[in-house]
Amino acid sequence: MIKARRVIERRDLPPPPRMDAGQTCEEYIKKLRALGYRTPGVRMIKTPEQIEGCREAGRINSLVLDAVEKNIEIGMTTADVDDIVVKATKEYGGIAACLGFEGFPRSVCTSRNNVVCHGIPSKKERLSDGDILNVDCTTIYGGYYGDASRMFTFGEISHEAGRLVKTTREAVELAVGAIRPYESHLGDIGYYINRHARQAGYSVVREIGGHGVGLAMHEDPYVCHVGSLGSGMLLLPGMIFTIEPMINQRSSRVYVDEHDGWTVYTSDGGLSAQIEYEILIKEDGVEILSK
Ligand code: MF3
Ligand code: CO
Ligand code: CO
Repeated sequence: MIKARRVIERRDLPPPPRMDAGQTCEEYIKKLRALGYRTPGVRMIKTPEQIEGCREAGRINSLVLDAVEKNIEIGMTTADVDDIVVKATKEYGGIAACLGFEGFPRSVCTSRNNVVCHGIPSKKERLSDGDILNVDCTTIYGGYYGDASRMFTFGEISHEAGRLVKTTREAVELAVGAIRPYESHLGDIGYYINRHARQAGYSVVREIGGHGVGLAMHEDPYVCHVGSLGSGMLLLPGMIFTIEPMINQRSSRVYVDEHDGWTVYTSDGGLSAQIEYEILIKEDGVEILSK
């Protein structure tokens, strides 16, 4: 018989000791591990200089999303949304990280209705009455990456669409609000998100998750939006990662468009919503770097 790892994880440890003055990050992490704590790797902890760079990149990324929010309107195409992002990113002195990332052909992801994520802006896709749309921006600024996404709705949306978007926002806020540095674990995030989505009758996508971010678009750790309390690594100051649940109206199953290789759809054609926050874990709480 093999015991599941979750069962033998030690959840009874008190919050760990803080870092001593004069101790390096490497020494501190090593000590915590020796004491039995599951910790992030040293590279997941950013230096004060890196944190400042990420803070600026996150701020610029939010400004680009503000430009989208200000200018987006019903009747536009998603290619027009891409144009807004291109223009605003340039204006603020940033670089749109999506363009050319693993061959992605545009500067932003636009995911409408039954598209879960990684939708490609298109001149043929017009925003019309009742649509819901996720706009996901990643901006490089001063060499650092900022990443966040927002939901937009057009005209009269259905009660269900409105409730899905609201539930998704609540789920992210709940997870962020529950994080306590040195005490919370990575799995807690997925626990709160999944519990909230399920209580509303929805499901959470498992194949795609949040991620460390800052020096690259995607870094460790992988942030699963389904999890259990007390599982995974401790959340320690200096960590920067995204929380970006994709919540589906019905089945959590998804598939990737076989023609463009990017667009992720719900398998049953149901609606999907996503909200992405980029956060920094600090000594005394959480700072939102981009949302
Ligand atoms: N912004 C996305 C994320 O949240 C990734 C964009 S994929 C790309 O991780 F191909 F468009 F770059
Ligand atoms: Co993103
Ligand atoms: Co992301």
